[in-house]
Amino acid sequence: MQGPVDYDAELTRYGAVLRRAWDVRPGDRVLDIGCGGGRTTRDAARAAHAGRALGLDVSARAVERARALARAEGLGNVAFECADAQRYDFAYDSFDLAISRFGTMFFADPAAAFANIARALRPGGRLVMAVWQSGDRNEWDVTIRRALGDPQPRGPDPFSLADPAVVEEILRGAGFAGVTFTDVGEPVYYGPDPDAALDWVRGFSCTSAALQNLDPAAAAATLDRLRDALAEHLTADGVWFDARAWIVHANRGR
Ligand SMILES: C[S@@+](CC[C@H](N)C(=O)[O-])C[C@H]1O[C@@H](n2cnc3c(N)ncnc32)[C@H](O)[C@@H]1O
Repeated sequence: MQGPVDYDAELTRYGAVLRRAWDVRPGDRVLDIGCGGGRTTRDAARAAHAGRALGLDVSARAVERARALARAEGLGNVAFECADAQRYDFAYDSFDLAISRFGTMFFADPAAAFANIARALRPGGRLVMAVWQSGDRNEWDVTIRRALGDPQPRGPDPFSLADPAVVEEILRGAGFAGVTFTDVGEPVYYGPDPDAALDWVRGFSCTSAALQNLDPAAAAATLDRLRDALAEHLTADGVWFDARAWIVHANRGR
């Protein structure tokens, strides 16, 4: 892989693993939670054939992009809503499958969010979501945090669903049963070279939070440190980091 980096490229090694895990069946009505630019929603819509897929995201910009990409691909069985999954007024029992690629870790109220998602699923409907394991198991996070020298992580927490015991308790409380965790260790791609990787990582909320309180000289030194750290992960195929995620499976109780 040597191409430009975006979120789909970063997660390229997760594509096939997640499609197998979603196991979208023809006719399925699929909900994609925190769908971002909608790559996984579009994949689900294609696999669902006569079924359909709805992508939901709080970001209006993401939803606009998702709609444009679906239009460009001529997909007729996909739709997107700009809404908060914690509160969105889903029709009850209206989905067979809820999926998410790293889109469920940012809920202020996860109990409310997953209860709302459970209500949207038919009894026995499946939830399959990818969430990051803890930061210390993710080389990208360890490396970036060390380079940023930011002891106090701020901003949205991508590791909020890293602890299986906590996730199981939340999901059971929300009406899910049969909660299982599959360990996935696939690397993430940060770009063809260290400069591209630095541009990509500068967009992360942890990076901007760490830089915003620094004076210009300290910010420049931090970025140099970050670029050097990224350069250490340059391979013949671009900049890659080890990563670890859980694929969480659950069923809405009957
Ligand atoms: C890391 S991105 C993943 C995007 C997408 N799943 C993908 O793989 O391309 C997380 C997404 O979750 C969305 N999100 C965060 N909180 C949300 C909420 N309460 N309801 C819906 N979407 C939310 C964000 O706007 C963001 O697009």
